[in-house]
Amino acid sequence: MSTIRTLTGITTSGTPHLGNYVGAIKPAVQGSLNPAVSAYYFMADYHAIIKTRDADRVHQSSLEVAATWLACGLNTDRVTFYRQSDIPEIMELCWVLNCMTAKGLMNRAHAYKAAVDANVAEGNDADQAVTMGLFSYPVLMAADILMFNAHKVPVGRDQVQHLEMARDIADRMNHHYKVGFTLPEAVVGDNVAVLQGLDGRKMSKSYDNTIPLFETEKRLRKSINKIKTNLLEPGEPKNPDDSTVFQIWQAFADDSQIASMRQEFENGIAWGEAKKRLFELVNEELKGPRARYEELMKDPGFVEAELIKGARKAREETTPFMDRVRKAMGIRPLA
Ligand code: TRP
Repeated sequence: MSTIRTLTGITTSGTPHLGNYVGAIKPAVQGSLNPAVSAYYFMADYHAIIKTRDADRVHQSSLEVAATWLACGLNTDRVTFYRQSDIPEIMELCWVLNCMTAKGLMNRAHAYKAAVDANVAEGNDADQAVTMGLFSYPVLMAADILMFNAHKVPVGRDQVQHLEMARDIADRMNHHYKVGFTLPEAVVGDNVAVLQGLDGRKMSKSYDNTIPLFETEKRLRKSINKIKTNLLEPGEPKNPDDSTVFQIWQAFADDSQIASMRQEFENGIAWGEAKKRLFELVNEELKGPRARYEELMKDPGFVEAELIKGARKAREETTPFMDRVRKAMGIRPLA
């Protein structure tokens, strides 16, 4: 097969925001239109329970994330769109990979190390509140990826280490069992914007500075008005390159709109006016998908059916593949 398999997952622990849209969802939906690509997009709900024990949040987020992908135009006939927990083979593979992964490798995983460092800094026991789920989370991610023999994995920069670990684990598996896992590669989009949040730092749920993707028009306007700016008055030239308003503008505008807004900044456009135009631009793009999203949120049965369809499609691959892996490891019928 000559097609490139690309795969990515979104953890279902939050509400999708503009940063997710610009950095992940929009490029993924566009990328899936390429006929030379087989795309696998999934909801990482077993990853969500590493982060939160709020069951209602995980459940609600699963619906929100799935509805978001669909509302943004994902064509589920072209891509395999599924929920991790619907594919039991991923959990089986996860155990198998756990048995092949050096503990020392996981000791270096940055999410775990950050938790340990924070504990030590506060004078707590190093492993306080560290679960095995957090510790071995890169193994679950490797299982997600290796299960489908993905070549390319679009992720944020913070996930690059996990891709290196997945390659390492795949390498060991191939060495011992000759299963022939594809060695995956991280794709960190350089031309994909990492959006800034309301306070100018990276837009992220952990900074509480996000603009929810499909909040109402009124709320979106309010959020945009809250973006932090400096105190320059109307008429005073403003530097577009240190402005969050301009940065978000760039993520939604075409080249000529970018050039003309750059000019407006130099001409001293008032912050209020720049924000008003930003709202109009963003709202224009999101209006249609937002209406679809609102419909989908009222029709979870439809969303569920899409996921079931995706799981069926995914398992046509994962069932025979996991069989092969199991057999290679000596777990097979006696006669
Ligand atoms: N860990 C990823 C994140 O937090 C989400 C994820 C889970 C993922 N499994 C994956 C991404 C497999 C890519 C491939 O962003």
